Amino acid sequence: MRVVILGAGAIGGTIGARLFQHGHDVALIARGAHGEAIGAHGLTFVTPQERVTLRIPVVAHPAEISWGADDVVIVAVKSQDTAAAARNLAVEAGQVPVYSAQNAVANERILARWFDQVHGMCVMMPAEHIDAGTVIAHSAATTGILDVGLFGGGSDALDDELAVILEASRFASRPVGDVMSWKYRKLLTNLGNAVQALCGDGRESPEGRASLKLLLDEADAALAAAGITAVSKAEDDQRRGDHLRVTGIAGHFRGGGSTWQSLARGREVETDYLNGEIALLGRLHGVPTPANAQVQALMSSAAASGTAPGSMPAADLLARIRG
Ligand SMILES: NC(=O)c1ccc[n+]([C@@H]2O[C@H](COP(=O)([O-])OP(=O)(O)OC[C@H]3O[C@@H](n4cnc5c(N)ncnc54)[C@H](OP(=O)(O)O)[C@@H]3O)[C@@H](O)[C@H]2O)c1
Repeated sequence: MRVVILGAGAIGGTIGARLFQHGHDVALIARGAHGEAIGAHGLTFVTPQERVTLRIPVVAHPAEISWGADDVVIVAVKSQDTAAAARNLAVEAGQVPVYSAQNAVANERILARWFDQVHGMCVMMPAEHIDAGTVIAHSAATTGILDVGLFGGGSDALDDELAVILEASRFASRPVGDVMSWKYRKLLTNLGNAVQALCGDGRESPEGRASLKLLLDEADAALAAAGITAVSKAEDDQRRGDHLRVTGIAGHFRGGGSTWQSLARGREVETDYLNGEIALLGRLHGVPTPANAQVQALMSSAAASGTAPGSMPAADLLARIRG
């Protein structure tokens, strides 16, 4: 099996780096300055234990890959980039099995517009990509949890094979029969991404916590109205607790998670697929979701105006959410 990583940022770069380090056949698709830096100097991969440069094969576009029957694609672009990336991939690769190593729950459905074999990968992996050519993984023992399964439910032989390869490359991975239920739990966790991106450490203040509670209460009501069951928080906590050990990296300040990083890099944000998913479910099922809609709007403005992450006092956010 060759694993092609579409979008070699924090998550894609880390998966590619670990697979490459453990002798697996990997190719990265990385665009812009990041792809150019990897091509010129290799991918710099930083963890609590190491800082290495890996000469992983890299291209800028799926057209530059000679596709074969053994290829599997791990899609690790942010959700707002999935449709464009999938269209390019389908044109060049034709039918290829695809794994969505992304947060949110919309990506598998987007990928299924082009691909027959769509798998979900539930990603629990604190990782970072700020500088071109560099990715950082923050969990010390196991690098991350990457459970896999079919979008439509169940799992297949490819999931078994990929999980074995990932397990042998310092990830925890297993086939699960309900991968989208795990991803709905992850979606609930990710509703706080915007609070961190807007308020930074203010996320932990009483006002930040109160904001998050309003977002989660709406989400619980929207999922219940939609008849969607997420894996329990206890199961999720257990899986993380069994494997993730987030430690500091000497000389490195970790500002925040993936949405925080998007703002820090002046990129678009994924919030339309996170809090926006709750707003969508609310509209479809008659549940008011003003807090999530407000946070979605604030994040769109922050990204459009190039606002630095952590600029908004948590009390201001709470006041805006409460209207
Ligand atoms: N970071 C974390 O700790 C973490 C943890 C769990 C889950 N996740 C999820 O994992 C997914 C990926 O997040 P991330 O943090 O890895 O994002 P990221 O660091 O921004 O990496 C995504 C990469 O994909 C590139 N890209 C976008 N469209 C492309 C295309 N058509 N062709 C080639 N490259 C393309 C981006 O380039 P540009 O920079 O030019 O846009 C970027 O380099 C998201 O759904 C995120 O929510 C992240």
